[in-house]
Amino acid sequence: MQRLLIDGGRRLEGEVPIHGAKNAVLPILAATLLGGRSTLYNCPALSDVDAAGKILAMLGCVLERQDDRITVDARDITYLDLPEQLMREMRSSILFLGAILARCGRACLSFPGGCELGARPIDLHIEGLRRLGASIVEEHGCLRCRIDGRFRGAEITLPFPSVGATENILLAAVTAEGRTTLHNAAREPEICDLADFLNACGGAVTVEGDRITVEGVEALHDGVHRVIPDRIEAATYLCAGAATGGELLLTGVCPRHLSAVLPMLEKAGCRIEAGENSIRLRAPARLAAVDSVKTMPYPGFPTDAQAPLMAALCTARGTSMFVENIFEARYKHVGELLRMGARIEVEGRVALVRGVEALSGANLCCTDLRGGAAMVIAALAAEGRSTLTGLRHIDRGYQDLEQGLCRVGAKISRER
Ligand code: UD1
Repeated sequence: MQRLLIDGGRRLEGEVPIHGAKNAVLPILAATLLGGRSTLYNCPALSDVDAAGKILAMLGCVLERQDDRITVDARDITYLDLPEQLMREMRSSILFLGAILARCGRACLSFPGGCELGARPIDLHIEGLRRLGASIVEEHGCLRCRIDGRFRGAEITLPFPSVGATENILLAAVTAEGRTTLHNAAREPEICDLADFLNACGGAVTVEGDRITVEGVEALHDGVHRVIPDRIEAATYLCAGAATGGELLLTGVCPRHLSAVLPMLEKAGCRIEAGENSIRLRAPARLAAVDSVKTMPYPGFPTDAQAPLMAALCTARGTSMFVENIFEARYKHVGELLRMGARIEVEGRVALVRGVEALSGANLCCTDLRGGAAMVIAALAAEGRSTLTGLRHIDRGYQDLEQGLCRVGAKISRER
């Protein structure tokens, strides 16, 4: 079993280049099914990206990867029921549903896997695709889906701005007959990135705040696209810098996408300078508590940055309050932080973090992707050595995390 050995108590200082966004590249990879030859730059090397690649390859796409570039040739795809194991590897496999249906007219999917963050229903995806004309029935834990001819454009209002459902509806609508208007759509930067890719391939998608209009086109063509920077990877490094009283310069990042995270770090006492594609953070020796961090759909504070920020605030002066509004069961990391000496009380959606002088190293296990990142941050700030197992979670979403941290002064090694 692989594990990370982390010797804490070292101040992080230096430059961190940020990779392309996992949550942008996954729906874009699904979208490549609809086109001819797609060339994507700034693709992170992650196990979730590999899983998406496997799905595309099984459907007959020809993939090539060189450094951060992935090319997908989807001209000769052949329909196949995707194996359950592959679907389970990655929750975002549900994102392939709209695209497979649009391209092949049918799809059979088992229920998706990925991080367990409480019940993660897919009702909004299914309802959206039904509104566009798909017939979807559930049989023995599988979804059997069909569409006669093309999807048909429709007016859809989401009861909640789900990121994945917005993406799936977009993927189905882009080659539908007629116009689709989606109201109360998610507004995450990754949605705009998907729209930009679709438009680069001949789609006609207009994003205006929480309304997305799609004029269906017959087919997409070849396209070239550069994936946006990973705002959550950036937030994770910023929290690591903040937790260790460090000074970091993030490059290849989009500060605008972090408009809810940067003010929180400032409230905690960090000095932030945002350039066009860079962010410099200078942290005080000890952070100050933040009175209230409420996760919300974009442009609110991202749920994916909740655990990393909580880890940083465990040793802040004073009491911080978190309210998790997006996912239930997203406080799984708390149990592990407590083992390091943190003082955290959770009641329902609320977590109260009473800052302690110092955390101490412990044997930890990643509970989920962002929870795992939180444990790395806490271990970097803690006194003594921590060991961390369950690394498959971290490898789903962070490329070369330990190398990135070691380059700025952390002491981490991976035991294989
Ligand atoms: C995406 C991100 C994830 C992030 C989340 C919220 C990817 C691959 N993952 O996940 O990192 O934490 O956005 O920013 O981009 N819901 C329903 N029914 C549905 C779909 C969602 O009730 O059909 C609920 C979910 O249970 C959850 C909330 O809506 O409580 C938000 O989910 P959603 O925005 O869909 O997140 P994901 O797309 O799964």
